Amino acid sequence: MSDVVVVGSANADLVVEVPRRPDGGETLLGGDLLVLPGGKGANQAAAAGRAGAGTAFVGCVGRDANGAYLREQLAAAGVDTAGLAESERPTGTAIIYLTPDGENSIVVSPGANHALDIELVDRSAELWTAARVVVLSLEIPRETAFHVAARAAAGGVRVILNAAPAARLDAETLALCDPLIVNEHEALEVLGAGVQDPDAHDYPRLAARLREAGARSVVVTIGADGALIADADGTERVAAYPVTAVDTTGAGDAFVGAVAAELAAGSSLLDAVRFATAVSAVSVQRVGAQSSYADRAEVEAFIASHG
Ligand code: RIB
Ligand code: NA
Repeated sequence: MSDVVVVGSANADLVVEVPRRPDGGETLLGGDLLVLPGGKGANQAAAAGRAGAGTAFVGCVGRDANGAYLREQLAAAGVDTAGLAESERPTGTAIIYLTPDGENSIVVSPGANHALDIELVDRSAELWTAARVVVLSLEIPRETAFHVAARAAAGGVRVILNAAPAARLDAETLALCDPLIVNEHEALEVLGAGVQDPDAHDYPRLAARLREAGARSVVVTIGADGALIADADGTERVAAYPVTAVDTTGAGDAFVGAVAAELAAGSSLLDAVRFATAVSAVSVQRVGAQSSYADRAEVEAFIASHG
């Protein structure tokens, strides 16, 4: 049985480097097309696997070449794919424009990810009810993610919810999250607040409000500024490593997967976030999501060299 089970999406990432984002009605020439393994859930699983955790992935791909490719890439990261189902719908795809500043614009076509309904996810319940940690994100149907969160938590499994893409969460779901992991934009959405909210850039306040709304613990990721943790022990800030970003795609997923691996191994949330900050710092220095994730030895060497 795997310590970490990620229930989520898998996408083929179609990446094109462009000089800038195209305007409406405009045709731009970009670089050679890269087809890379992605999807928030699969990325998180690959990161947990590379961090050394016994990891399984539960999701759904199509019966097509991209589906076979994603399965193979997860296996290469040490992830058990017995819970990866197949559907008649095409494998999820993300069309990604990568600009020279390392930023991206992404359109996701969910395809087979949206075939992961409650009935299908329950077929691999023996995997995710026996885990130490279950990781959920929201590129699969929300009701599926919330169902797994409730059933896993009821059985004593620790639930990490990465509310990405952003969604409003009710108090019942929030109460299952230990931690809830969000960026600032997602934090506002979860709270049902807008960008005009007076606390929009006040991370300690956002984290406190998420705790008041019910989350057991909260991690707010702040990109190049690191992360903020709020739990029963108080609030703690973890600084990011100063690196030059080439491609930030999937850096948040690397962070989530690494947190899961460390928590499953018995680390405190603070130590887990410290390690995960290094994992995502390494990942932004290379192109792609999963293709940029380091294994544990490389992350430890990175941490040692950044004293
Ligand atoms: O979080 C990054 C991921 O989002 C990409 O791999 C892409 O597939 C989209 O799902
Ligand atoms: Na990367």
